Amino acid sequence: MHKSPYHSWAEPYKIKMVELLKMTSPQQRKKALKEAGYNTFLLRSEDVYIDLLTDSGTSAMSDRQWAGMMLGDEAYAGSRNFYHLEEVVKDVYGYKYLVPTHQGRGAENIISKILIKKGDIIPGNMYFTTTRLHQELAGGKFEDIIIDEAHDPENEFPFKGNVDLDKLDKLVKKYGASKIPYISIATSVNMAGGQPISIANLKALRAYTKKHGIRIIHDMTRVAENAHFIQQREAGYSKMPIRSIVKLICSLTDGATMSAKKDALVNIGGFLAINEWDVFEEARNMVVVYEGLHTYGGLAGRDMEAMAIGILESVNDDHIHARVGQVVYLGEKMISFGIPIVKPIGGHGIFVDAKKFLPHIPQDQFPAQTLAAAVYLDSGVRTMERGVVSAGRKANGENYFPKLELVRFTIPRRVYTQAHMDVIAESTARVFNKRQKIKGLKMVYEPKYLRFFQARFEEI
Ligand code: F0G
Repeated sequence: MHKSPYHSWAEPYKIKMVELLKMTSPQQRKKALKEAGYNTFLLRSEDVYIDLLTDSGTSAMSDRQWAGMMLGDEAYAGSRNFYHLEEVVKDVYGYKYLVPTHQGRGAENIISKILIKKGDIIPGNMYFTTTRLHQELAGGKFEDIIIDEAHDPENEFPFKGNVDLDKLDKLVKKYGASKIPYISIATSVNMAGGQPISIANLKALRAYTKKHGIRIIHDMTRVAENAHFIQQREAGYSKMPIRSIVKLICSLTDGATMSAKKDALVNIGGFLAINEWDVFEEARNMVVVYEGLHTYGGLAGRDMEAMAIGILESVNDDHIHARVGQVVYLGEKMISFGIPIVKPIGGHGIFVDAKKFLPHIPQDQFPAQTLAAAVYLDSGVRTMERGVVSAGRKANGENYFPKLELVRFTIPRRVYTQAHMDVIAESTARVFNKRQKIKGLKMVYEPKYLRFFQARFEEI
């Protein structure tokens, strides 16, 4: 459903200001990589040419958002920007009560502490690193209830973010609904490769949870991208505007955590939104302890203003078609070079299958970490490991060995051009052509929490 008469996904904006990039030599990159312990998180961004580490907080804001920054009302309490944000969240997403937080994990911390008791089970459509960790720190245990297709990079099922209701039903029968404070549902499932959940699946889940009195808490970080896929792929939604689909998705859930650094086009910000008054009351108490007063939650007034405007821009059909269109362009180019990627192509980036790319490297030698390092070395393109390093360890100290061992090429919104996409695909193809020569890594330093951020490696 591309509406542009000129090009399938041409950008609905033009560039007003540019940021110059530093070009590096292979020698410089080799040195930088070694100093960073072969971990792309530890590279200095100045040593990076095209930065695909994340789509989080890396978007280009519009002139309207920048103008909004000048309207920041930097009052400690009751900033007018808070009330604007509250109005936009209610209007666009439909949730009743809003608690701003400094970013997504601030909201995850608060909702986990409020709703989870020791020994509780939190089923979800695949884990996200910070989300699961907050659930575990609150005493809960995460259980994956995503459909099996999501764990298979080759499977082209259009809604790999869907919940397997049989898996959920087994958990409810085993533990009882009273042990399940909520189901954690992400739209555009990040760790599965940006895969969407369908409206039909959400409706079925809503019916099931109503019967059993279980809440659905929505990780709405990339809800507009999910809505795009519903519009493209789900029968009955091709003519519904993105904004209406987004609101429909939210209406099937009871509350949400949001990292506004993605969909909502800001460099910092997030919130917790909830329909239950009691939970809201508790969250308003708690935000004061961890984030800031309930009318700013760790944000400046100007940040809340930029977020309010960004949310409105994020649900514009032309915007989201160009955003996902660019990602699809890169993915199709990689496929044409024979590079193994997760299919269907997801909403926020290309996920290269490192197990297939480097079949000679066993998972305990970190194939995805190795591949991310090799791509950086080739061209200065920075990507991210999403495999065994990101998965971390279980409470008993054993490593999680996830089926998916991926390198994420995450595309920031409104930042890079089609020519950049070509450079990225060509660089990956060069690495692919010399893949047999690439050797694995060993971990020489491992932090206790979220180890992928700061772990260090050496070549074997
Ligand atoms: N939920 C999802 C699905 C996310 O992708 C992220 C962050 C968060 C929650 C946490 O939000 O960073 O604002 O605290 N994802 C980033 C990424 C870090 O690169 O995928 P946050």
